[in-house]
Amino acid sequence: MSLQATVKRLTAPAFTARKGGEKLVCLTAYNAWMARLLDEHVDMLLIGDSMGMVQMGYQSTLPVMLEDVIVGGRAVVGASVKALVVVDMPFGSYQTSPQVAFEACARAMKETGCGAVKLEGGVEMAGTVAFLAQRGIPVMGHVGLTPQSVNVLGGYGARGRKDVERKKIMDDALAIAGAGAFALVIEAVEEPLARKITRAVAIPTIGIGGSPDCDGQILVAEDMLGLLGDGGPKPKFVKQYAHLAGEVSKAAAAYAKEVRGGAFPDRQAHCYPQIKKQAEKG
Ligand code: KIV
Repeated sequence: MSLQATVKRLTAPAFTARKGGEKLVCLTAYNAWMARLLDEHVDMLLIGDSMGMVQMGYQSTLPVMLEDVIVGGRAVVGASVKALVVVDMPFGSYQTSPQVAFEACARAMKETGCGAVKLEGGVEMAGTVAFLAQRGIPVMGHVGLTPQSVNVLGGYGARGRKDVERKKIMDDALAIAGAGAFALVIEAVEEPLARKITRAVAIPTIGIGGSPDCDGQILVAEDMLGLLGDGGPKPKFVKQYAHLAGEVSKAAAAYAKEVRGGAFPDRQAHCYPQIKKQAEKG
């Protein structure tokens, strides 16, 4: 019997039910090979709009298109069997109105087979979250540092540094949870605030620059794997569990040396011998 037939994929309600229990482990994945490698270890795979910066090298997540996350979402759903797959709704695809948001989210769900969507924002998005949740779309919220608002925030620094900002982020979290979101990402806020929000809401909080007391944790997989090299920004909340950029560079250097030196390809090991006439007949 295949794994697909025996493993039941985690659903959004089952994810919510883990509030206060075993920590929820989440990572991003934008393609099939990464999803296949990560699926057995995580509870959730997010096709994050971070793909714009990580995969496409954009300066922000803003240029990412709905079509980009749909292509990634379809690949990740197809290559995983266990994790809840969540599609991150790109900038401009959901902010205009609840109706516009429903159309974009329904398209993402129909075309990828994902189990939920994520969108950024607080009090101002609560009506949209309620509209979607009441119409069959599980929504994960995202408060604190919301990268799609980088041009309003003025950068990617931690949020919740002042009383007025702390209050706003708590109000945002309460509004999104109250609107029916099934979980909430808290990004780059002062640790005590993430802890307080986790206590204040009935849904799981997923930290990224949050708190060890959050109900779960998410990182961008390429950050966690050290795949991006020294070029990119290194937020405080990233921990590298491997240094794969160095391995990629070493492998490419060894390949280049062997090709230039004639050691690869090897005539016996990597080339197709001519088929003998008799064998052809036989
Ligand atoms: O786009 C993304 O990868 C995200 C996570 C960092 C939460 O939103």
